[in-house]
Amino acid sequence: MELNDRNPWQRKAARAWGILCLAVCLPVGSEARNVCLSTPNTSLVLDVEQGEEPKYVYYGRSLSPLDVENIGYVRNCDQPAYPAYGLDCPHEAAFAVRHSDGNLSTQLEVCAMEEKDTGEARTLSIRMKDKVYDFYVTLYYKAYRDVDIIEAWSSFRNEEKGEVVLGQFASAYLPVRRGDVWLSRLYGAWANEARLVQEPLRPGMEVIQNKDGVRNSHTAHAEVMFSLDGRPQEDNGRVIGAALCYGGNYKLRVNTDESEYHHFFAGINEDRSSWHLGRGEDFTTPPLALTFSSEGLGQASRNFHRWGRKYKLAHGDRERKILLNSWEGVYFKINEEGMEAMMSDIAAMGGELFVMDDGWFGGKYPRNSDKTSLGDWVTDRRKLPGGVGKLLREAEKRGIKFGIWIEPEMTNTRSELYEKHPDWIVQAPGREPVTGRGGTQLVLDLSNPDVQDYVFGVVDSLMTKYPGIDYIKWDANMGILNHGSHYLEGNRQSHLYIAYHRGFEAVCRRIREKYPDLTLQACAQGGGRANYGVLPYFDEFWVSDNTDALQRIYMQWGTSYFFPAMAMASHISAAPNHQTFRTVPLKFRIDVVMSGRLGMEIQPKDMTEEEKEMCRRAIADYKTIRPVVQKGDLYRLLSPYEGLGAASLMYVSQDKAEAVFYWWKTEHFMNQHLPRVRMSGLDAEKNYRIRELNRIDNQPLPYEGKVVSGAFLMANGLELPYVHQVERNRKNAYSSRVIYLEDAGD
Ligand code: GLA
Repeated sequence: MELNDRNPWQRKAARAWGILCLAVCLPVGSEARNVCLSTPNTSLVLDVEQGEEPKYVYYGRSLSPLDVENIGYVRNCDQPAYPAYGLDCPHEAAFAVRHSDGNLSTQLEVCAMEEKDTGEARTLSIRMKDKVYDFYVTLYYKAYRDVDIIEAWSSFRNEEKGEVVLGQFASAYLPVRRGDVWLSRLYGAWANEARLVQEPLRPGMEVIQNKDGVRNSHTAHAEVMFSLDGRPQEDNGRVIGAALCYGGNYKLRVNTDESEYHHFFAGINEDRSSWHLGRGEDFTTPPLALTFSSEGLGQASRNFHRWGRKYKLAHGDRERKILLNSWEGVYFKINEEGMEAMMSDIAAMGGELFVMDDGWFGGKYPRNSDKTSLGDWVTDRRKLPGGVGKLLREAEKRGIKFGIWIEPEMTNTRSELYEKHPDWIVQAPGREPVTGRGGTQLVLDLSNPDVQDYVFGVVDSLMTKYPGIDYIKWDANMGILNHGSHYLEGNRQSHLYIAYHRGFEAVCRRIREKYPDLTLQACAQGGGRANYGVLPYFDEFWVSDNTDALQRIYMQWGTSYFFPAMAMASHISAAPNHQTFRTVPLKFRIDVVMSGRLGMEIQPKDMTEEEKEMCRRAIADYKTIRPVVQKGDLYRLLSPYEGLGAASLMYVSQDKAEAVFYWWKTEHFMNQHLPRVRMSGLDAEKNYRIRELNRIDNQPLPYEGKVVSGAFLMANGLELPYVHQVERNRKNAYSSRVIYLEDAGD
């Protein structure tokens, strides 16, 4: 709609928006218009005026109609909504383009604005045109009706005479008022993903980026939180959270210059990714999901979790099955007897799904190590004479579902696929490819539609042949180490990173259309694909290849900043742990795993009957608490990063009738004083019955079975013994508690 059509537009907007309003008003002179976009508890205000560059005015706690009316006088901010490079722009830009005649400057002015109501959300689009060139930029803001998330993204259209080159193309820009602003972000490495780091923003540039090409959350995450009122706190202070929903290379920039603002930009990483846009072509950036909380980090996380479950994750309304994965149990030593034994064991422990991991496939080249066979997705009958069909029947006999591992984006130099299609790999033109895992792994070129068909076909043929497959673990163990595509033309080689992810998403969409019920796990050498750009197609992600319970506390804590427990796959594994070699007792391992999506990754035949019985009981209890953990609200109580010797969190059901409290000791010294942890999120008026789960102590806790008010638990918490009361020969350095609270009525 054209903006000069002002009155009808305003009338329509006023009618349509009600309380969750898109309020339009004219506070400063007849030409200026403040547009307010609201979610239940937050508002975003932009100043949108025809012929001018749109400005950011406000993002924060909900504004009343009166505040919206007067915000022009008390304006928080008048930074451009989307700074373009070229004129009056000595600072960082959100956007830069080389126009068809070589001009590097852009000057945007608003030409139209539109709103769309899809029921779940309202989306405002602001169309801008360059003052001289036929080049268009549209900004989108999608405000959800029932969760406090606003997604922001941009799109570009070239109507110039020739091709233009996009050099910088952030999804969105947000000015954050300076003060005592702290940034929380996640960084790490393989087997140490999602470590939390919190630091004040200092003058200069903070860049968080990824260039892996395939995975994007091993080393740094595309999500951040800004605590606006000093040192980050769980329950207090204003927080802006941001999550870039994109599975490929990204760049988040926070530029703290001489102005009053930290300038935050988020989008696809443009490095080696300039995009050529032909005449008449469009380019759309991935959404940046923004949230605002006036109750600290905790509420910001809960906002992301609710939105994630409701709108982003595949099957976010469905409880996840309890599974046994074969990897750490047998690694590549797959055989029929072994798989059937594992199925019997997990079924006997009350599990619901068995997942056969790597090692089941290969024709000419058997997959006995990570050096061969990726791409040859045929059952290795030498290992599995009855094939996948037999395993499916065996699973059914045991009353459980069956899942399988694949890594369809990859191949090995020793594979039939590579022999047949050497030009399908990502490879620098004219150069020997650098190989990845096993010294032979290569990435397939998903920018090529034939490769997309092939990758889709991997899933499609498995599912066509074996419709009983319930779950697929989709792995990706290599990044792009060779810049080059046989498919893309010479002057389009810079499209590779983006085209790869477009190809990946196109395949995922096809899979989801044809197999809407299939459960998919995003694994990428552990936690390389924990991102909201991937999750619409996947039900969950593998947090890390590191299953050590102690280290998982730190990784899952960081992950919980943005992702709900139902998406965090967490498995009970062996002791000593296969990655850290730490010997953590089973009780502690179970207690950590129970705070995420519980599974097992262990050889059950190496477990004692007593251990199996412990797992059986834990699985039975997890079934009771599963709705609370997977669909409830998370309250982080004591951070392991505080270094106070323990960590604690809890989940509370939406109706606050049930809660599960977790407490893990993270270090053990004599006469150490651990803080008593106060609970959170309960109903102060309700009375809760206390039941300890996974108890190993000879005596129950003194308050076992007792009823205590929510008010008391939130004001005081419970006193927890620092060690377990067991026989001397069973004592160890670890201690943990899981406590289930249930509304006991009046
Ligand atoms: C990756 C995954 C593991 C396992 C192996 C199999 O490393 O992260 O969980 O599936 O591949 O090769």
